[in-house]
Amino acid sequence: MSRNAEDLAALIRTRAGDAPVEIGLVLGSGLGHLAEAVDGVAIPYDDLPGFPHAGVSGHNPKLVIGDLEGRRVAVFGGRAHYYESGRGDAMRLPLEVLKALGGRQLLLTNAAGSLRADMPPGELMLLSDHINFSGLNPLIGEPTDARFVPMGDAHDPEMRAGLKAAAEALGIALHEGVYAWYSGPSFETPAEIRAIRILGSDAVGMSTVPEVILARFLGLKVAAVSTITNMAAGLSDEAISHEHTKAMAPLGAAKLEKILRSWLKG
Ligand code: HPA
Repeated sequence: MSRNAEDLAALIRTRAGDAPVEIGLVLGSGLGHLAEAVDGVAIPYDDLPGFPHAGVSGHNPKLVIGDLEGRRVAVFGGRAHYYESGRGDAMRLPLEVLKALGGRQLLLTNAAGSLRADMPPGELMLLSDHINFSGLNPLIGEPTDARFVPMGDAHDPEMRAGLKAAAEALGIALHEGVYAWYSGPSFETPAEIRAIRILGSDAVGMSTVPEVILARFLGLKVAAVSTITNMAAGLSDEAISHEHTKAMAPLGAAKLEKILRSWLKG
């Protein structure tokens, strides 16, 4: 844990209180609304030196600490992507701060393109696993042996089972599949999508994978859910754009919020 993370955690405690955080939630494009549902204290990223500027529209760059369904949560309203800075470890400090605040679990959300006809826009996919197709890694440069993180069960089986059970009880379809990380920010070509389909991907996006790796490095349990906003390149006639992603994310977001609330309630 960096000194900086300990200092930031101390600063956050002076504003949000000393009670340890249990769970961190990272909200993806168009999903920022959940931050408003938390009964707690909002701290703009600008007040937290070293936090990302979260310059992607559709994100809500603030940290909200408080209660959601009786659990103490830290909601990260915006994430930093590799493509903004060329730094794979852009989310390391926020996740270290989560750990310093007491966090043990991390739930990541994102907007993603679908490679499966049975998983059209508006559907949700729980990541059973991922493919780091970018070849980048947020732990490059980490000098300790802790960098050799096992990734065999990176997407925590217990968290996944809990999320599946919550969705089932609500009667909401929660698909499961493999998420491939392309660095972005350009969208993929149809040939790139065909390639990752052959390799076993079900969805594609520009985030999440570095955060899963960092979470495991820090000893946080982690799971991730994609909101499908579009069919991936070449799989439909619809044009793919960031505007479209932001417009479509709320379709799945309402269902995702229900699942998350029910899972948190336990
Ligand atoms: N590709 C990459 N990232 C995305 C997509 C996509 O099709 N949709 C939403 N985020």
